[in-house]
Amino acid sequence: MSATLFRNARIVTPRDDGRPLAGPRQGLVTTHDPGALLCRDGIIEAVGTERGVLDAARGSSGIAEVDCGGRCMVPGFVDPHTHLCFLEPREAEFLQRLDGVPYLDILAAGGGILSTVASVRAAPEAELAEAVRKRVFACLRLGTTTVEIKSGYGLSTEAELKQLRAAAAAGRGTPLTVVPTLLGAHAVPPEFAGDAEGYVDLLVAETVPAAARAGLARFCDAFCERGVFTPAQCRRVLEAARRAGLGVKLHADEVHDSGGAALAASLGAVSAEHLLSSGEAGLAALAAAGSVAVLLPATAWALRKPYAPARRMVELGLPVAVATDCNPGSSYTESMPFVVGLAVLGMGLSVNEALVASTLNAAYAVGEGGRAGCLAPGRRADLLLLDGETPGIIAFHAGVSAVSAVYARGERAWPAAGVQP
Ligand code: NIG
Ligand code: FE
Repeated sequence: MSATLFRNARIVTPRDDGRPLAGPRQGLVTTHDPGALLCRDGIIEAVGTERGVLDAARGSSGIAEVDCGGRCMVPGFVDPHTHLCFLEPREAEFLQRLDGVPYLDILAAGGGILSTVASVRAAPEAELAEAVRKRVFACLRLGTTTVEIKSGYGLSTEAELKQLRAAAAAGRGTPLTVVPTLLGAHAVPPEFAGDAEGYVDLLVAETVPAAARAGLARFCDAFCERGVFTPAQCRRVLEAARRAGLGVKLHADEVHDSGGAALAASLGAVSAEHLLSSGEAGLAALAAAGSVAVLLPATAWALRKPYAPARRMVELGLPVAVATDCNPGSSYTESMPFVVGLAVLGMGLSVNEALVASTLNAAYAVGEGGRAGCLAPGRRADLLLLDGETPGIIAFHAGVSAVSAVYARGERAWPAAGVQP
């Protein structure tokens, strides 16, 4: 049994409503100042005013104490959309894009996602796992304590499973919680060039059931985009995923309005992700379906596209989450603080709405809503101490991280023990 009492903190946490916060509730937070939090064996036991929590702790012995020095405490970030399973970022392609070559043109010419596929297929599993482990630590230092990792650079059954095993190994080798997602329908592999249907047949008959049987994925995702997979093809893959017991997500309307939002809604997807080009009807359908909108402002920023209409989504009652989309092409950043800054200064969310988007709503988007994203009894003691008095410092201290200490499951995960945070 290990117990820790965090005291002298200004605690700001999303409200625990038992569901994602949407519409006028998108920015609903509770503040305890001065606040305290007691956790035992990695799970929060009490949180509230310092006096109340000290009363709850009285009588127990052997409790370690952390004086938070009056700093702001928020839940650890949940990054609900990443493609971390790669070796090297595609730097040359970044330069091509700066010269005006569109992202989808690079993919159509066999580069982009397909060039990462070539290197991931060739890599021994241990090498890939080590690359993922290192990248996951980069996320952790920036305050991410739960991270979704998609496959999608294998595009054969064996190479997709290799990526999912590497993601699972990163989960075991770090204090983070990893949520694995199968993204076999990320691009059409070279051996199926011109035959997307044939590749979808393989996914439906073999890859999806194999990933589910091996317990290597919790969700299945697909890239619904003009020139990649049609809504009908994505539907086939995601219905197979449902049959195999996996939850459903969708890369929807990233570049063109491809009917992705409406498809995600009709499938009852836990989340629809990107939504840069979705029409109003698709967004309304998503709100009615209860899906979470996972917005990726770092991708819009890096592709120099307008941000997703986050304010309109809040008006429509669609719960908004944000994520890095960390990948070797369209968004090469592990930084949730950067994403929160873009959410506030680029998409016009309030500080509290962006806090909810990067914690509680993000947790719901990866099936962790009851376990993470909120400082409340019964949830994981995943928490951050910030170099400031309010969560506003995350957006305000631009380009660097205001996260000064990260605790995962009640244990200090960064900086290493002995280093003054
Ligand atoms: O979410 N659009 C598809 N997938 C990623 C990019 C992956 C890559 O470029 O390697 C995205 O933007
Ligand atoms: Fe993505």
